Amino acid sequence: MATVYLNGRYLPEDQALISPLDRGFTYGDGVYEWIRAYRGKPFLLEEHLARLASSCAKMRIGLHVTPLEEVVRRLLTENGLAGDAAIYLQVTRGVAPRSHVFPPPETRPTVFGMAWAFTPNPAFAGAGAIAVLEPDVRWSRCDIKVTSLIPNSFSAQRARELGAHEGLFVRDGVVQEGSLSNFFAVFDGEVRTAPLSNYILPGITRAQVLDLGREHGIPCRETPVFATELGDADELFLTSTPYEVVSVDRLDGRPLPPERPVARRLAQLYRELIARECA
Ligand SMILES: Cc1ncc(COP(=O)(O)O)c(C=O)c1O
Repeated sequence: MATVYLNGRYLPEDQALISPLDRGFTYGDGVYEWIRAYRGKPFLLEEHLARLASSCAKMRIGLHVTPLEEVVRRLLTENGLAGDAAIYLQVTRGVAPRSHVFPPPETRPTVFGMAWAFTPNPAFAGAGAIAVLEPDVRWSRCDIKVTSLIPNSFSAQRARELGAHEGLFVRDGVVQEGSLSNFFAVFDGEVRTAPLSNYILPGITRAQVLDLGREHGIPCRETPVFATELGDADELFLTSTPYEVVSVDRLDGRPLPPERPVARRLAQLYRELIARECA
């Protein structure tokens, strides 16, 4: 059985018990991170922990003392994960009598972590993703990585029922991001993606891919991509920790051109970065 982390202790998964009055249960009041390890080494750990700290700060959850870097490393060793793995961390506002108002500041957040051997989606081996557009019905703080993921879950389920992998959220005519990923389009060799705002998650992979592109002379612009423009795009691709860089094969049933030089190059540069960082 997997060993998990809960509030300072490493426990068998079935002994990690949480009160039903945890705000994560009653309000979905928490934040999380989903991190990858390659060859047993956490990738971009500092960036993920910085985003978790930022999510906590935006949510006014006081996460002060938990040594999360150590938690991540120990979860990998406790579970014998020396190969490719995923690590999930979740922080909630803690246990408190049910009330919309925040509990007193001394309430300790609940901190949970787990890790498991991770294999990328085999559907993307040698192929791309199938995507469908849909209206963005999420709240206006999509920049916080909150555990309340109901619209994303509905979107992923709708995609599944349509034979697709990913829903792409359109708000005010702009393709903001996917249900589980950031979204990019390539027009005449230039990469474009929605600018950082309260309507998208500041993806760790997104930032790395933009940096890599710019370093290697691929023009990259953070500017809205309108749904009405997608018919003119030469390539579409998605980025996320589990996906890395994945081309879109079909959008709303329409096949994309089979040549993807830009997405292929960025995927290769990203793989090289992983190889360097997790040698
Ligand atoms: C809505 C959303 N956007 C973007 C991403 C990509 O973020 P990252 O590259 O940090 O994994 C995710 C990942 O879970 C996500 O859920």
